[in-house]
Amino acid sequence: MTGLLSVNALSKAYSSSGRQVAALDTVSLTIAAGETLGLVGASGSGKSTLSRVLLRLLKPDSGSISFEGQDWLALRGAELRRRRARMQMVFQDPLAAFNPLASVASVLDDPLRIHAIADRKQRPADIAALLERVGLHATLAPRPVRTLSGGQRQRVAIARAIATRPSLLVLDEAVSALDVTVRGRILELLVELQREHGLAYLFISHDLAVVRAISHRIAVMDAGRIVEEGPAADVVNAPRSDAARRLVAAVPRLVTEPV
Ligand SMILES: Nc1ncnc2c1ncn2[C@@H]1O[C@H](COP(=O)(O)OP(=O)(O)OP(=O)(O)O)[C@@H](O)[C@H]1O
Ligand SMILES: [Mg+2]
Repeated sequence: MTGLLSVNALSKAYSSSGRQVAALDTVSLTIAAGETLGLVGASGSGKSTLSRVLLRLLKPDSGSISFEGQDWLALRGAELRRRRARMQMVFQDPLAAFNPLASVASVLDDPLRIHAIADRKQRPADIAALLERVGLHATLAPRPVRTLSGGQRQRVAIARAIATRPSLLVLDEAVSALDVTVRGRILELLVELQREHGLAYLFISHDLAVVRAISHRIAVMDAGRIVEEGPAADVVNAPRSDAARRLVAAVPRLVTEPV
């Protein structure tokens, strides 16, 4: 595994009603190519703030990010747009942001067109191939996204995210809204895609059991800081920080029943 993402001393404070909230406090982490880093922490610990900074949706106050050997925060304009294809995101209900009448095909057509992955004639075949790759039937293409089940919708979101052939997916609570069976299947799909394409994941969740199921390493966030980081089994079986111990205690079966 080679270094893909390296985050160094990232800090970000929000000011809300005259008070400064340190959402990120000198956060550092690395992700290797093809690796899953789980990021877990209580509500408000700063996980989504980190994902927004990584995706260049939010500017940090200080710190640096290296991604695919580039100074990620220095990229601008056309070069940023081009490189952005390589880091994609999947949120809890990413398709909620779309026009409810948008079809599955149009949701998948956008990234192919915007990033010039395929020309107009090639795109329907690419869309069918993407659907198949995430375990959906190509006949779903004309369906409005809002008519899909939660699990199908999340598969479309994953298809959209991998359409631009990224090396890293940032998944922020991507399976949190799904019931247990559907969640398991989506996790299996992610593992399969990782194996096939060498994808790396930053897998964010407040649920340590879910993070444990998919991660090679786990980082624990508490009040804007990474307070613990290590191989997934170590963090779950022998947590060293109070924050990690609290998360383990919240899942009583976790230690005796590894997923
Ligand atoms: N736009 C904002 N303005 C002010 N404060 C914010 C803003 N967004 C987040 N915060 C604060 O920053 C801190 C970190 O929030 P963040 O959303 O990153 O946490 P999180 O770990 O993703 O939580 P959750 O598990 O609930 O999704 C919280 O204290 C939150 O209230
Ligand atoms: Mg969040």
